[in-house]
Amino acid sequence: MSESSLKICCIGAGYVGGPTMAMIAKQCPDIEVNVVDINESRIAAWNSDSLPIYEPGLDEVVREARGRNLFFTTDVSEKIKTSDMIFISVNTPTKTFGIGSGRAANLEFVEKCAREIALHAEGHKIVIEKSTLPVRTAEAVKRILNSASNGSASFDVLSNPEFLAEGTAVTDLLNPDRVLIGGESQEAIEKLANVYGRWVRPDSIIRTNLWSSELSKLTANAFLAQRVSSINAISALCEATGADVDEVANAIGTDSRIGPKFLKSSVGFGGSCFQKDILNLVYLCEHFGLPEVAAYWEQVVLMNDYQKRRFSTSIVKTMFNTVSDKKIAIWGFAFKKDTNDTRESAAIYVCRDLLEERARLTIYDPKVGLDQIKQELIYLMSAEFGTLSEKHRKLIDDNVEVANSAEAAASGAHAIAVLTEWDEFKEVDFDAVYRSMKKPAFLFDGRNLMDREKLSKIGFEVYATGKS
Ligand code: UDX
Ligand code: ADP
Repeated sequence: MSESSLKICCIGAGYVGGPTMAMIAKQCPDIEVNVVDINESRIAAWNSDSLPIYEPGLDEVVREARGRNLFFTTDVSEKIKTSDMIFISVNTPTKTFGIGSGRAANLEFVEKCAREIALHAEGHKIVIEKSTLPVRTAEAVKRILNSASNGSASFDVLSNPEFLAEGTAVTDLLNPDRVLIGGESQEAIEKLANVYGRWVRPDSIIRTNLWSSELSKLTANAFLAQRVSSINAISALCEATGADVDEVANAIGTDSRIGPKFLKSSVGFGGSCFQKDILNLVYLCEHFGLPEVAAYWEQVVLMNDYQKRRFSTSIVKTMFNTVSDKKIAIWGFAFKKDTNDTRESAAIYVCRDLLEERARLTIYDPKVGLDQIKQELIYLMSAEFGTLSEKHRKLIDDNVEVANSAEAAASGAHAIAVLTEWDEFKEVDFDAVYRSMKKPAFLFDGRNLMDREKLSKIGFEVYATGKS
């Protein structure tokens, strides 16, 4: 496998696989990168002008490499056969059934990939876990590869977790804090390190054993989520005591041991990773007989649930204990700004709570449409009730609509709830918005995005997380 004729295949064209492979292809024009997926419409979108995921700067990266050395296809078996390195970058959602339900990662898709690779591989392949996985999954992948193989292939398995955050994926991939490669074969590790070495500083490429690599990814996400839950816990105390959570975050963040990042209090963290990975960690701890450690980390998720619920409860309480038949404008549905991803977004939970209180919701998100919003609500409400009852479907159908701007969503509303920190929300003509709303005009800022003083002067009743 000479480096210049290297062929890479990535199974899974999602939020991780797509951008990561696009960056490898951009930085290594001599390496052929094939991204494969069983989802035909997703592959078609990657091959179109309208990419399936919104990520600042990604269009340009894809445009530069696509058709040159970056290809998107559904021909999984062919690309497995012809590639030297195969990344597994498929979804690993929390299990919703059977043993470990609600905690353990569902490894069905990873196992299917391993079996697919074993079936079609010829010659030597380096198989790389990109998806976040429980510790020791590589062991299972190795066993499947070796036992299901047709005999004409051999394998090295590496763990190379991805640390990109959505919304900043392109810059994260371009300038990663570190690249982590775990494995047993030094030769395989160095081959992968050489790929990243084309643009990543050598001292930022960390080599570990397989298990440390797998566990580091879970631990990084657990620590990050823990910081958000910690500041959110303090936000409740701020509201009770008259302290201001942003002032507290700023004061503690200047301590170089604590640092300023990830101390933004919010309506709660979302995204496909934090909750899933912590629950996965909790499950692992329980499995290995460490209930105290499991309970410690579970609290991060419980605090997040509390924060989401606290926000919707405060809306209802503040609006004279009823939002029934009141119009509430929801500004933002994505789990953070600069992404169209809504997985585990706090907005889903807040909207669910408000719908149960019989509110009418008009939602505006610059990158999320009605179908996606309804799908998330249906998914959450079905999971809770086993199946979606007619009553809940009607609740969603009758009371959820979208608007095509923040102003339009707020027109005639009793309240605005800011759930995603999109920059454009700060630029709104608040005088006009105020005039168009029912009075008192409430604004609940779940992201501490707004200038409270300015809005209060206009006449809004502003409530912000962590501010009394
Ligand atoms: C995270 C990790 O950051 C990334 O390294 C890993 O690869 C995947 O999981 P992501 O979920 O894409 O990335 O976004 P992130 O920026 O971490 O935000 C997660 C959630 O926490 C968002 O809902 C965000 O709004 C929230 N958050 C983050 C806060 O509420 N406050 C903060 O200070 C930071
Ligand atoms: P992530 O955020 O981890 O990238 P996504 O859900 O966005 O997760 O993407 C995972 C992708 O993996 C999906 O597009 C899904 O269709 C694809 N996938 C899952 N299983 C397989 C498989 N066996 N073969 C090919 N693609 C798969």
